Amino acid sequence: MAINVALIGFGTVGSSVYQLIQSRQEKLRVLLGQEIKVTDIVIKNLNKTRRVAHDVRLTNSFEKVLATERIDVVIEAIVGVEPACTYIEQALKQGIPVITANKALFAHKGSVLKHLAEKHQTGIGYEATVAGGIPIIRTLLELMSINHISKVEGIFNGTANYILTDMRVNNRQFAESLKLAQSLGYAELDPDNDIKGIDAFYKLMILCETIFKQSPEWNDVSVTGIDQITPLDIEVEALRDKRYKLIAEAQYNSDGSLHAEVGPKLIDNEHPLYGVEGVENAVTIHSDLLGALTLKGPGAGGEATASAIFSDLLALFTQNSKSKASDAFKPVTSASNV
Ligand SMILES: NC(=O)c1ccc[n+]([C@@H]2O[C@H](COP(=O)([O-])OP(=O)(O)OC[C@H]3O[C@@H](n4cnc5c(N)ncnc54)[C@H](OP(=O)(O)O)[C@@H]3O)[C@@H](O)[C@H]2O)c1
Repeated sequence: MAINVALIGFGTVGSSVYQLIQSRQEKLRVLLGQEIKVTDIVIKNLNKTRRVAHDVRLTNSFEKVLATERIDVVIEAIVGVEPACTYIEQALKQGIPVITANKALFAHKGSVLKHLAEKHQTGIGYEATVAGGIPIIRTLLELMSINHISKVEGIFNGTANYILTDMRVNNRQFAESLKLAQSLGYAELDPDNDIKGIDAFYKLMILCETIFKQSPEWNDVSVTGIDQITPLDIEVEALRDKRYKLIAEAQYNSDGSLHAEVGPKLIDNEHPLYGVEGVENAVTIHSDLLGALTLKGPGAGGEATASAIFSDLLALFTQNSKSKASDAFKPVTSASNV
């Protein structure tokens, strides 16, 4: 019997996941021990042309999918909190595990959804929500089994990092670099979430919940964008061997308080994030046994994000192959740092 997948969203991420499942069938069959099949794709606009196999159902009704098909896993890749949250809740309540790439959703609703998954003895994977292809969530959960993590800091937005790099290297104004990023497909037409630090903030909140099992009060977190930085600021600091980077960081203090902030920070060439350039993302984890560990890599893009989704999929169907697939995320979600 095949593993039946319902895919919600068929944009950059959803279509890459579909292509990967189609093009790596043989490898996946070996890894998972059975065939994996996308049976349904939920999209918004039924009139768009999609290149999918003839036996895949395209629908705008997730309810219909749940009512008429045996689904073994839901992969969700749409934008925003709703209707993603409602769809995921519906799946979890039926004991169906979910993998999501949706950071806005998971920042807002992650802890509620984790509890719901636990209540219904299933799991929710969210590796793809933070730093695209960098396997940060799984690394953290593994480290946390023995390390105490006190701080996490990262460059989580490739668009902002591209703009800051381009302004420095090519001596361009912010608006010019933003326009270039848009023409290269690195920035959305509405780039506010990226340049104002909101996207990085969402990812930081997901990491706080993962590591510290709590988020700071969102209103207490200072979030500053990069749009006020001038080429002159950058040039002056570059002469002192310093670079502006949009850093999101959270620190757990010995008194039990959690401090988090997102904003442009000046760092020198000894800082682990100094050399992270262009659209790349990176994250540094500070822990008692390991010291500082930095992971660097592609933070976005269909294939990189699909790779993160696949790591959740493999964990789901191989970690506990003898128990129900739905138990697969339990060992990792129950790790505790504090
Ligand atoms: N792009 C990346 O590099 C990246 C990286 C990491 C995480 N993510 C996250 O992954 C998610 C998807 O991103 P994306 O770049 O793939 O977005 P996208 O290209 O804009 O695609 C969004 C897809 O969601 C579908 N959709 C929108 N509203 C829907 C609704 N109400 N019901 C059903 N389907 C709906 C759209 O349907 P139509 O095709 O019919 O319009 C489209 O197929 C986002 O949450 C994003 O934050 C993206």
